[in-house]
This record gives sequence, C-alpha cells and structure tokens, in this order.
Amino acid sequence: MDDNDPGSRIALALDVPTLDSAKALIDRTREHIGTFKVGLELYTAVGPAAVEAVHAAGAKCCLDLKLHDIPATMGRSVARAACMGVAYLTVHGLAGLDSLRQASDNAGSARLLAVTVLTSLDEAALQAIGLSGGPQSAADRLAKLAWDAGVRGFVTSAHECAALREALGPDAFLVTPGIRPAGSDVGDQKRVMTPRDAIKAGADLLVVGRPIRDANNPTEAAAEIARQVQLALSP
Ligand code: C5P
Repeated sequence: MDDNDPGSRIALALDVPTLDSAKALIDRTREHIGTFKVGLELYTAVGPAAVEAVHAAGAKCCLDLKLHDIPATMGRSVARAACMGVAYLTVHGLAGLDSLRQASDNAGSARLLAVTVLTSLDEAALQAIGLSGGPQSAADRLAKLAWDAGVRGFVTSAHECAALREALGPDAFLVTPGIRPAGSDVGDQKRVMTPRDAIKAGADLLVVGRPIRDANNPTEAAAEIARQVQLALSP
C-alpha cells in the first residue's frame, strides 16, 4: 500500500485474544488498512507471533505496549522491540525525561510514539491521578517532555491534535486513537472524533479498534473509514 492510499493513514487495533482471530481480522481488512496495531491483549496472549502475522500480511506493525519503566529497562526493552522490525512502538510520556531519552536512543528504525494522555481519561479522571489543568495542558506538557528527549511521534486525542501540531510543527508525527465514525458506539473512550475531523485536525495516523472489530462486516467498516479518510484528504 503506498503513502497516497487512505489506508496508509489507518491503524487497526488487533484487540483480540488469539492469533487465529487476529489473522482473520487482518485477512478481512488488509486491502483497506496499512498498519495493524498489536496491543497488550494480543501480545500478552501470543507474543512476537502477533507481530510476525502482521508482517506476513505485508503490513506495518505498531507494537502498542505503552512501555513505562526505569530508564535502563526502557532502553533494553525498546531495543528488543525494535529488533522485531516494527514500524511503530509506543511508550508512556509519563515515564519521564530520562526513560524517554533511553527509549529514543534505542529505537533503531522503529518510530517511537509517546502516549500523552489516554483518550479514556477526561478532566475529572486526570485530576484524580494528580494531573491538573485538563487534557490539553497535560498533553502539551508530556509532548514537550518527549520532544526534548528526542521523540518525534505522539499518541494523542484528536481534540489535542491541532494544538500539538501548532506547537510542534510539521516534524511531529501525530497518532490519534478514539476515532468513531458518526453514530457509532463510544465505549470507554471519552474524547472521540470522526475520521474526517481527526484528519482535518492534523492527524497523520488514525487508530481504530472496535468500530471495525465489532462491526457486522469488518471489511465494509474498514472500507467506509478509508472512504471517509479519502474524502478528508481531498482538496
Ligand atoms: O476500540 P477503540 O477504537 O477505542 O481502540 C482504541 C485502541 O487504541 C485500543 O487498542 C487502545 O489500547 C488504544 N489507545 C487508546 N488511547 C491511547 C493510546 C492507545 O485508546 N491514548
């Protein structure tokens, strides 16, 4: 899939418990999706085989382990993940400057993505864990910290996307989960946006999970999201 294809702007979250179900979802959507995201559920269940399944389909892999540990462990874990040939790897901005620096120094050819604020957290939830000032200021602060550590990729709600783009410029690679086609179920996400609005807000890569995984026809759901991305990209 080339970079002009709308599917190159979509990462499908393989939030399923077995390798067979992951492979089935890849097969059904591959033609519309450029990147598949292996997250905690699948990686905990089947490990590197999940990454291999994505690569075997000729797609890019985003390994979404949201690493958050002391600097030495971060550096060593990121190096191991990079050896698997993943295109993207996530770490938590909250891990702090030294951990992010170690991650950045050991990422090799993987593009490191720092999670700013989980899209399931709203202002009240952030306050409860001691982060005051709301999602935008927390996202700005954590992105700045990650930037200073050499990280150039960021996972952020589409709501914070435009401000981050403004603050960080064209070199920042912005990845937005919490994508919901109009009318679809929000689930546990709090800060959601449609594919079209997320692209317009400056997102480089949209992460979509349940709207495709739980659709009656995942192939059609993926095609429809790709169509909406295509429309948003057309002048
Ligand atoms: O099902 P849904 O479209 O909400 O999927 C969102 C995916 O993005 C999940 O795999 C979740 O782990 C991930 N994610 C997120 N918020 C972040 C980072 C990753 O929802 N900040």
